[in-house]
Amino acid sequence: MMNGTDDLQQQTILVTGGAGYIGSHTVLQLLQADYKVVVVDNLSNSVEEALKRVADLAGSNGRNLSFYKIDLCDKNALENIFMVTRFDAVIHFAGLKAVGESVAKPLSYYYNNFVSTLNLLQVMNDKGCKKLVYSSSATVYGQPKAVPCTEDFPLEALNPYGRTKLCAEQICNDLHIGDPEWRIILLRYFNPVAAHPSGEIGEDPLGIPNNLMPFVQQVAVGRRRELAVFGNDYPTRDGTGVRDYIHVVDLADGHIAALEKLFNLSDIGCAVYNLGTGKGTSVLEMVAAFEKASGKVIPLKVVDRRPGDCSEVYAATNKAEQELGWKARYGIEEMCRDQWNWANKNPWGYEGSLEKDCM
Ligand code: NAD
Ligand code: UFG
Repeated sequence: MMNGTDDLQQQTILVTGGAGYIGSHTVLQLLQADYKVVVVDNLSNSVEEALKRVADLAGSNGRNLSFYKIDLCDKNALENIFMVTRFDAVIHFAGLKAVGESVAKPLSYYYNNFVSTLNLLQVMNDKGCKKLVYSSSATVYGQPKAVPCTEDFPLEALNPYGRTKLCAEQICNDLHIGDPEWRIILLRYFNPVAAHPSGEIGEDPLGIPNNLMPFVQQVAVGRRRELAVFGNDYPTRDGTGVRDYIHVVDLADGHIAALEKLFNLSDIGCAVYNLGTGKGTSVLEMVAAFEKASGKVIPLKVVDRRPGDCSEVYAATNKAEQELGWKARYGIEEMCRDQWNWANKNPWGYEGSLEKDCM
């Protein structure tokens, strides 16, 4: 496959946070699209085993993957990596991402997410690597006044995590205004779920999962007793919250489309795209689809609403479709099938049951 303007030469992409959930799936798609990939990750929320499996899945292209265990807050370590490799572009996934934890530990979130992003941008700037894909989030829409969310909606941050995303978007905008050589794509993800269809890589959260589908999956394999449904009195079809779930492989492909755009369009500036399916699914609909895919019953109880949750969020997808030529291919059925395949093959995640809590 050709990779844009410099297509005679294989391009090298730095992927920060590439051992994590979305990162590992994206690294696999990059390898399969013939990119060379260097991952940096401090393994604070991931394990190296994920990358070993990615390399295996990539077959002979697995040789194009290298990994450095470094913390992006360590600028010298990052500079050393840029010293030995010339990167054509960077995809920046690394960061802390749990909303509740960010409220409890704001300093950790501000320090980690800001310092790592600033270090990365400074080193990229110094080395003349000025193409970036940044992992943003639908969280920057706050409590949207309407759905679907279009990219020009007003933005707001409701918690420290959201503020780190919103502020990083603004830093990227400023960077491009100050130096138009920068080409940046901000991708606002909706709700990533599922796993690679092989069942070899997937999401493996530490501790009690914050998000719906990892929790459902752990109930299905017997690690948790029941799902707490956060409220059934929202103004939605069945009273439960509605979200735009997107298959992680579709999301990963969205990054390849964004990279190709960066390579091909010199005046892209700092552009922003939603990555979602444009379809809303309720908690109960998602649980029913997972029960069907897995053949398991998911016991549930309805509890109070979770503070800060909105009733309904889903993406407008036209901009990504028209400008990136990217559209999500998978529906809820495939998402639940692949989530279950991963769970069934790896009920305790990558590293078995050691030191993992239960119930
Ligand atoms: P993840 O935790 O699985 O992956 C993030 C990776 O970054 C981890 O491997 C972690 O070890 C690494 N990391 C964190 N701080 C680091 C540092 N200082 N130096 C080096 N590595 C560091 O999370 P994910 O779900 O794959 O999310 C990837 C990105 O997408 C994050 O920026 C997240 O905020 C964003 N995002 C995620 C979601 C979601 O629901 N998963 C939604 C919207 C946006
Ligand atoms: N939910 C439950 N029980 C649970 C977990 C979730 O009922 O145990 C419900 C929530 O109330 C919500 C839906 O399931 O209605 C989805 O919740 P998630 O926690 O899976 O996802 P959110 O939409 O709340 O947030 C996620 C990420 C954020 C990101 C946002 C938008 O966690 O970081 O998507 O991309 F900002």
